[in-house]
Amino acid sequence: MESMGTLKRTHHCSILNKGNIGEEVTLMGWVLRRRDHGGVIFIDLRDRRGITQVVFNPEINPQVHAKAHALRSEWVLAVKGRVAARPEGMTNPKLATGEIEVMVSELRILNQSQTPPFPLDEEVEVADTLRLKYRYLDLRRPAMAANMVLRHTVSQAIRAYLNGQDFLEIETPVLTRSTPEGARDYLVPSRVNPGRFFALPQSPQLFKQLLMVAGMDRYYQIVRCFRDEDLRADRQPEFTQVDFELSFIDEEDIYLVAEGMMREVFQAALGVELSPPFPRITYGEAMARFGTDRPDMRFGLELVELTEIVKNCGLQVFRNIVEQGGMIKSINAKGCAHYSRKDLDDLTAYAGQFGAKGLAWVKIKADGQWQSPIAKFFTPEEQAAMVAALGAEADDLLFFVADQPGVVHQALSELRLELARREKLVSRDDFSFVWVTDFPLLEYDHEAKRHVAVHHPFTAPVEEDLPLLATEPGKVRSRAYDLVLNGTEIGGGSIRIHRKDLQETVFAALGITPEEIKDKFDFLVQALELGAPPHGGMAFGLDRLLMILAGRDSIRDVIAFPKTQKATCPLTEAPSSVARKQLTELGLRPDWKEQV
Ligand code: AMO
Ligand code: AMP
Repeated sequence: MESMGTLKRTHHCSILNKGNIGEEVTLMGWVLRRRDHGGVIFIDLRDRRGITQVVFNPEINPQVHAKAHALRSEWVLAVKGRVAARPEGMTNPKLATGEIEVMVSELRILNQSQTPPFPLDEEVEVADTLRLKYRYLDLRRPAMAANMVLRHTVSQAIRAYLNGQDFLEIETPVLTRSTPEGARDYLVPSRVNPGRFFALPQSPQLFKQLLMVAGMDRYYQIVRCFRDEDLRADRQPEFTQVDFELSFIDEEDIYLVAEGMMREVFQAALGVELSPPFPRITYGEAMARFGTDRPDMRFGLELVELTEIVKNCGLQVFRNIVEQGGMIKSINAKGCAHYSRKDLDDLTAYAGQFGAKGLAWVKIKADGQWQSPIAKFFTPEEQAAMVAALGAEADDLLFFVADQPGVVHQALSELRLELARREKLVSRDDFSFVWVTDFPLLEYDHEAKRHVAVHHPFTAPVEEDLPLLATEPGKVRSRAYDLVLNGTEIGGGSIRIHRKDLQETVFAALGITPEEIKDKFDFLVQALELGAPPHGGMAFGLDRLLMILAGRDSIRDVIAFPKTQKATCPLTEAPSSVARKQLTELGLRPDWKEQV
């Protein structure tokens, strides 16, 4: 191994072109590929920015050429040489540097490498845990490096935009107390105060509200949040929010800020020109038409309710479900009557994963006749009414789910997405934003047997709905909103409660006792009594936004060092066990066995 000595890097690996021919340059990087063409050795030298072909020719320097025989993948090199035009027919239009090569006169091997555990030169499928264990190799791969660049670009665009809008970037504590976003907390024991714990913030929610009370007027932060919840492709235990809050505003001001931010982000990241304002849909309408509060609006396949039409039909399961207060909804899969028995079985099993106890179907034949195991249970009038409600025509395939609304909506909303994937109705290059508004303030939690906040307990109710709080609490609307992009909730927020009396009313509706308020939220309630301005804000899930911008299916691909599905880090092997002494210092007496 050698040192860089007096060699200084003059260029990165993606920058040299015909204009540099004849120049003496020094490049540094990794061996991506080595080709030995009987006498002449070609190396593709790679750095974060790209690739340059460097050539070892015995006629230029026989010692250097001899040394180049040893080079292997991922060795780290410094090369000095002259830029030359590639010979006729050897240019590579796909490469920024494809018209030139560097004829090497000096080579220094800065480091060797063992054979990497997976190839880095292309997007080969590599097991996720292996990628995470050797994340520093995974990040050398061009597509992953590009995701890191994208993340940087987007963060910078967001900062520039918000700075330009007179926001202040202010940091809030990581060691704090439980913040109520509804997930489980990560706890940190306090050594100095044995038996007491910090909670890592699930979001900076309370602090940003306090910053409004402090008169900061417009706050933002690109901030890590921690939630101990079941992980999915779009959920990590630690993730990043673009969090902001404003004073003396209403919903429209928030929408403007958020839409302007998305505009800048899409311009900077993809060169895509968005044209806000984004469409809006109420929660009620989203549930009715799409069965979900995060509708993917890039395609139709909307849900149609048939309860009234079929409530007296001959199919007993349907009748029973209507009698039990359930509903029947349907999707018209346009032109899908050719689906095979197997397709239908697969889709039934798919809907079953989301709770559907069956998936009835009807194929509309060319003559308009129904082909279906359940056709005989419907009168011609019922059939005609269903066809009309669904706009069904020849070659269409109709699906039905009967159940309680929760199951019907979940099963059909997922079936809708699956049909769109099968029929290739969605493109990653379409960006369909929608604001979802008028969420209910409260929802009934059957396990806890009480109402819980749909958003969080600081969300303002719609004032005119307040009388319903005593009679029909589930009907009270909140001033919360989510921004949904292509079926993913990329952000959410609300106008907050800024008066103590209203906050106490809402706490009471949530069954939070005065003792609990005193214990958990006293500091907030006090602040509301000390001149809290009207305020509101929202938070974007930065990782989710980046996942969509990068055209990926998992937020892990846009996070440098993410966790596995089981919330572990294969690279550092965190979480790890700790010495018993450390625990006793913290006043903890574990009773698990394998403690070292
Ligand atoms: P909320 O809980 O909706 O709101 O979070 C805001 C956004 O953060 C993203 N997000 C996540 N991303 C990755 N992994 C997770 N585990 C995860 N959880 C949430 C989502 C979501 O829309 N304090 C409020 C915001 C406010 O009211 O201003 C809050 O945290 O994209
Ligand atoms: P069965 O009478 O159970 O054989 O069901 C007749 C048809 O209705 C089958 O295609 C089932 O998949 C379907 N089916 C049964 N239960 C439901 C339900 N809850 N919702 C929709 N379809 C159902």
